[in-house]
Amino acid sequence: MGNELVGRVALVTGASRGIGAAVVRSLSKRGMEVHAVALDDNDLARVVDETGCRPHGLDLRDLNALRAAIGGVDFDVVINNAGVLPTLEPFNENDPEVIDRTLDVNLRAALQVTRLTLPGMQRHDRGHLFYLGSIAGKHPTPNSAVYAASKAALHVFAEGLRCDLLGSNIRVTTLMPGRVQTQLYDDALGGNNAAEQALYQDFEAVQPDDVATVINTALDMPHNVDLTAIEVLPTKQIFGGSSIAHESKTHPIRRQGGS
Ligand SMILES: NC(=O)c1ccc[n+]([C@@H]2O[C@H](COP(=O)([O-])OP(=O)(O)OC[C@H]3O[C@@H](n4cnc5c(N)ncnc54)[C@H](OP(=O)(O)O)[C@@H]3O)[C@@H](O)[C@H]2O)c1
Repeated sequence: MGNELVGRVALVTGASRGIGAAVVRSLSKRGMEVHAVALDDNDLARVVDETGCRPHGLDLRDLNALRAAIGGVDFDVVINNAGVLPTLEPFNENDPEVIDRTLDVNLRAALQVTRLTLPGMQRHDRGHLFYLGSIAGKHPTPNSAVYAASKAALHVFAEGLRCDLLGSNIRVTTLMPGRVQTQLYDDALGGNNAAEQALYQDFEAVQPDDVATVINTALDMPHNVDLTAIEVLPTKQIFGGSSIAHESKTHPIRRQGGS
């Protein structure tokens, strides 16, 4: 899209912190009119002050509020970024409410946002939809089964959507980050700066601005090129490999989570 982005309209969910805030900053700098969705709090207010974006302080699980805020706006770029990561624990210990919340924010909200924004893109036969999945959706780790499932479902939804959009000029891109230095893990690891100590202190993670750069790169590809699925990992992080996990009395599996 390049300079074509000036004056075009973008929607970013989960825009108040981390990756979402970085994307809002980058798209605003490029002259886009950016609509920013997050819970109505000081974090969102800070992003608005910094970028001049249009805030929609709401809970993405509230479909009526979402419809009232963005229904009727024609968006050129939609970044489905909002996500939650519940406390890292075995599935049988997950609170039922946490299961629902994770699926509602990570999956259902992205589908509803897509349903609300796609007609405008189809009318103009242009647009770019992004989905923030996770490498966890391809390689689940212990203690985050619901999170992994929500992301795997999001990846497959985006692939299915591409099938339905075949023949249009609407692009669909899924990003699957590994470890990005944000507040996502704060609550999941028990707060008190636990994420900083456990994940980032001695490790060079991907930064939110790096993910924003990847998104801008996908936007800048010629219109006939769609970067459909992109893994964004720290150089010193791998998933998979050939190790086999099994548990025995003498070698209990060390259970940990977190990508
Ligand atoms: N950080 C990583 O290592 C990593 C790795 C792979 C994938 N990802 C994915 O990247 C995306 C962004 O994560 P992040 O790391 O930037 O996390 P973050 O710093 O925790 O930001 C999450 C954003 O989502 C918003 N949000 C959460 N629940 C919401 C709700 N019900 N309604 C409206 N907004 C809501 C938050 O807003 P409030 O402040 O208003 O709650 C916040 O702006 C997520 O989908 C995450 O799963 C992250």
